[in-house]
Formats: sequence, C-alpha cells, structure tokens
Amino acid sequence: MYVRPSAAAAAAFLGFTLTALGGTAAAATGPRSPAADGPGMLGPVVYAHRGASAYAPENTLAAVDAALRLGFAWVENDVQRTRDGELVVIHDDTLARTTNAEEVFPDRTPWRVRDFTAAEIAQLDAGSWFDAAYAGARVPTLREYLARVERNRQRLLLEIKKPELYPGIEKQTLEVLDEAGWLDRGHVQRRLVVQSFSADTVRLVHELRPDLETAFLGTPKVADLPKYAAFTDRINPWHTTITAEWVAAVHGLAGAHGKTMEVDTWIVDDAVTARKVRGMGVDGIITNAPDVVRQAVIGGFAD
Ligand code: G3P
Ligand code: CA
Repeated sequence: MYVRPSAAAAAAFLGFTLTALGGTAAAATGPRSPAADGPGMLGPVVYAHRGASAYAPENTLAAVDAALRLGFAWVENDVQRTRDGELVVIHDDTLARTTNAEEVFPDRTPWRVRDFTAAEIAQLDAGSWFDAAYAGARVPTLREYLARVERNRQRLLLEIKKPELYPGIEKQTLEVLDEAGWLDRGHVQRRLVVQSFSADTVRLVHELRPDLETAFLGTPKVADLPKYAAFTDRINPWHTTITAEWVAAVHGLAGAHGKTMEVDTWIVDDAVTARKVRGMGVDGIITNAPDVVRQAVIGGFAD
C-alpha cells in the first residue's frame, strides 16, 4: 500500500522548484534531462500517470497537484470529447468507473463520455469513487487542465485517447493547446509531448505540428520500427512487452526530429520493476506512484 505525500515529498518539491520548474536549469537541460525530475537525479525521467493517481483521483486537478507536491514535473493525461464538442480529461470512454454518473443520470446507460454534454459532466463527482476526501473533484476540461499544469509550471504528456471515437480530435486538441498558449516555443521544446495508441493519430499530429514531439504507444516489431521513426520521436510500450534488445533497437534509430528515438514505458508502480526497466535502458517510466519509482531508480529504495 502506498503512503500519501509526506514531508519528505515536500522537501523533494523544494529542490524541484529551484531546479526544474521555470528556472535556468530547466531551460538549459531540456525536456529529456533526468534533472527535470529533481536535483542531481540520474536515470529515467519519471512521469506521473493520470497525475499522481496512486494518491489522488486519476486525471483530476487534484492528481496534478499531488504530482507537484511530490516534486514531479511531468504529468500524463487522457483526452476525449463530449457530445457538444468540449475536450475533457478522462481515461475510460464511459463515465461509470470514475464518476457518480450512474447515480446522477440513472437512465443514461452505458454513460459514454461522448453522449454527455460538458455541462452534464461538470456536475459529476470524480473524486468520491477514489476517496471521500476528494468528494467534489470534477472531470476537468482540457482547458482547465492545461491552466492548472501551467499554473504549477509542470509539463504534459498528453494522450489522445480512442481517437477513432472522435473524428477530428487531433486538430481540435492542437487548437485548444494553441489557444491555451501551449504551442509556443518554450512549451513545445520543453514541456509538451503528444502520444496515442493510434499510429494514424500520431502521424497526423506530426503532420499538423511538425515541431511537436510525439510518441506512439505500443511495441512494434523491430523490423517495423523504421516506419514509426518517420513520424514520431518515441515508442512508449507496456513494460511487460519489452527487452533490453528491443529498447536498444529503438535507440538505434533517429526519430522524426533527427534525434535518437526514446522509450518511456508504462505502468510501473513497484521498485523491482522500476529497476528492471531501468536496466533495460528505458528513457522514461510512466507510473501511478512516481515517488516509489524515483526512490527505486536513484538506488535508495530497499526492496
Ligand atoms: O502513458 C501510457 C498509458 O497511459 C497508456 O495506458 O490505458 O493508462 O492510457 P492507459
Ligand atoms: Ca493514458
């Protein structure tokens, strides 16, 4: 069982604010530097998956803030679209698991995100399912989410979720990012990566915004990797599907921006697995419990 953010985490955050967020260190090191996750750290970059979702309800503003309190720059999220065209941050394509939609709208089975308006979703409690202490947390719109990540001076690994359900979501997501100020040079170079399980979506995002870094979620065969390198910069696989040889094969290619392709693996929430994937040479670890992974990969965590 995980512990909630502690005084030690707050101390880590102090170092984080001084070195990684908005300071000269971040500007000098860029988005891939392990230094982006804390002072003097070596090893993979750590991404807070759906926010620090072991400690706060996933994909809420509270989960973004929990990552901040723990001292993490990067948060990951999932973007989908409402019936009336608003982009919202939620993982499942239904509201049932992470909100009280069944209670508030009992006749709206199966409670698909795309069948509800933004105003209806805004009424829902997205926190109580996780812990009563989070009662009243909302499903944020992407605009609200970006504002919070910006306020916190954090960085965003944005996933376009199930794009096959939402025609045009790639262009719309980029429009919202642009309107929120997230496509300027500073954000694109240091603070934003867009990923998807859909290769077509990743390719389209790359075509629409060639300056933006992207990632494909999956584990292509080694022989197919060059095709992906033509339009993306990273291959982000489930940790159970990879070997050191596969990671090395990805690293052997230059991606869409001419740099060595990178690997951010998911979802790793325990020290043993974190060390295992670090040993495979991954560049990043996407985790619900970023503090656990950080402790593990800097070598100070007892198994
Ligand atoms: O960032 C990787 C991870 O989010 C992919 O899986 O299902 O949690 O979106 P999922
Ligand atoms: Ca995701």
